[in-house]
Amino acid sequence: MKKILILFAHPAFQKSRINKKLINAVKNLDGITFNDLYENYPDFFIDVKKEQRLLTQHDIIVWHHPFYWYNAPALLKEWMDLVLEHGFAYGMHGRALEGKSVLSVISTGGGKVVYSSEGRNHYTMNQFLVPFRQSANLCRMNYLPPYIVHGSHTVKNDEIEEHALNYKKVLLLLRDNKLSKTDLEKAEYFNNLID
Ligand SMILES: Cc1cc2nc3c(=O)[nH]c(=O)nc-3n(C[C@H](O)[C@H](O)[C@H](O)COP(=O)(O)O)c2cc1C
Repeated sequence: MKKILILFAHPAFQKSRINKKLINAVKNLDGITFNDLYENYPDFFIDVKKEQRLLTQHDIIVWHHPFYWYNAPALLKEWMDLVLEHGFAYGMHGRALEGKSVLSVISTGGGKVVYSSEGRNHYTMNQFLVPFRQSANLCRMNYLPPYIVHGSHTVKNDEIEEHALNYKKVLLLLRDNKLSKTDLEKAEYFNNLID
């Protein structure tokens, strides 16, 4: 059984409609450690050694957040800046994360159609996520297809419930190592692997 670490970053969790349901569906699963960054570091003073220790104790890292300005909320960026240190995460002797996998789980205001070359946002989600993918690559980690919940303003409650169940399925598939490398390589979104 693989061990999964969820790094959750939502600066306004009390107002959340989507991520609250997603988190509730997965945070108590066996083999999963839930790390709520805004809860643990409201002042942004990240305990770097503790976070690095957590990384080394897990096989799959989840960056879970709402999409803010085509990116992650600031505390996840701060976490990346401080925790993914040279000599630990990357560089000639920085091999602590080698072979682990990373999954982005993201909710967006915009629907899928606006995330395309013809759409209002001009770029696909995978294009926006290149800095995350390449950060994982630099750390010799494998960046998985992202799980995305689009259209937060229009998504209905029963659709959110379905996403919450799907998120649970995603983590169980990864935890129990049920997906082949080829499945993972060809999917645009993780969503497509469980429909
Ligand atoms: C500061 C801010 C920036 C946002 N930027 C984006 C964005 O760049 N693209 C987008 O699709 N939605 C954007 N949104 C919408 C959020 O992604 C959306 O409200 C969130 O995913 C809903 O999840 P929740 O119900 O858990 O809060 C933004 C929202 C806020 C508050």
